Amino acid sequence: VAEKFKASKGTADILPDAMAGHRLVVETARAIWERAGYGTIETPIFEDTGLFQRGVGDSTDIVRKEMFTFEDQGGRSLTLRPEGTAPVCRAFVEHGMSRLPQPVKLGYAGSFFRHEKPQAGRYRQFHQIGVEAIGTESPLADFEVIALLDELVSELGIPGVTLRIGSLGSLDARRSYLEVLKSYLRERSGELSEDVRERIEINPLRAFDSDHEGTAVVMEGAPRLIDHLDDADRQHFDEVQALLRAGGIEFELDTTLVRGLDYYTRTIFSFVCDRLGAQSEIGGGGRYDGLISQLGGPETPAVGWAAGVERILLALDPETETPSPDVFIAWADEGDRERAVVLVRELRLKGLSAGIDIAGRNLKGQLKQADRTGARWTLILNTDGSGELKRMETGEQQTIDPGDLAGLDLN
Ligand code: HAM
Repeated sequence: VAEKFKASKGTADILPDAMAGHRLVVETARAIWERAGYGTIETPIFEDTGLFQRGVGDSTDIVRKEMFTFEDQGGRSLTLRPEGTAPVCRAFVEHGMSRLPQPVKLGYAGSFFRHEKPQAGRYRQFHQIGVEAIGTESPLADFEVIALLDELVSELGIPGVTLRIGSLGSLDARRSYLEVLKSYLRERSGELSEDVRERIEINPLRAFDSDHEGTAVVMEGAPRLIDHLDDADRQHFDEVQALLRAGGIEFELDTTLVRGLDYYTRTIFSFVCDRLGAQSEIGGGGRYDGLISQLGGPETPAVGWAAGVERILLALDPETETPSPDVFIAWADEGDRERAVVLVRELRLKGLSAGIDIAGRNLKGQLKQADRTGARWTLILNTDGSGELKRMETGEQQTIDPGDLAGLDLN
């Protein structure tokens, strides 16, 4: 016997009966960003590796060990996109979107790739929906994007969700704070995990994220970035909070919130769901005021988020559902077979969902098939050109002209 293949580790097929749930999440998100004036963008699945090295940051886990990177036939290093913000910013710069009225508001949905250890809620190919508001540093933009994710949560009815927010300050304020934090960590390096110790110089903030016991104890007493914000950052953060309160969006202030990407400045936020295990964040994001200039564009402040479709589905656990036809066309006499396929084609072109057996079964088999597909009505063609229309639920039956079918109310 030939060897069978399986979907690659950390990837999954979305089978037809799960597709309704997947689509519901993506379509709800799209409707939410479109009614808020966000255009939809799709960027390529792979990009120059350098975009992510520079955009996401060399010191992040994503760039250090999670990228699917390969060389193409021309010897160029390409990477399957691990996230969407750097590609959207690359597109913003490439297409001169800074000349458009600002802010430029964009939404996207698609597959992303990270070579992580798979577990519930964590995959190597996963789906994100996301929005980016590019070209303003106003706290109104922070408020708007957070409000959109909040709307998604309530519109889908995701239970047990909490919003956490924090501020990382501007790059300058953060730089001076990082020196304070580094010297605090260096003085206590003996108590830290090896991983955190190794990264004191390159990414000390990640120490707040560590689940190592000794590190956690050290971090309880660590200096907080929130106490080192400069006046402008503090005011910006205060305004974001005031807007959230005015908008009735509940949040928790989290002074140790950190995120796994280097580009964040000022506001960061995270929506976590208590129905999920270790991978409890359904979505999050923040401001990235330095990213576009880092990618060769003009100084352009921006803010956005992305959410994980699979995690939302885990939290929602929607019912599976396969599409069923409105009406199933069947025939008894082989001479009516052609009439049946022509009728089905006409009905479908008129926008009706019409079923037919395409396996060559006899009438009994066709009717069984109609039942299996969940058709609500069946029309059996008679040799005299008429048809018997049967409501499957009640068995009630009437003789009709098949040509009238498209005009009937099939509810
Ligand atoms: P992120 O926090 O890396 O941010 O990912 C956003 C969301 O994607 C997470 O909250 C999670 O729901 C989902 N996610 C991430 N990794 C996985 C995985 N391996 N398996 C399943 N789901 C996953 C970003 O990607 C930023 N680009 C967000 C952003 C947009 N910031 C500003 N604008």
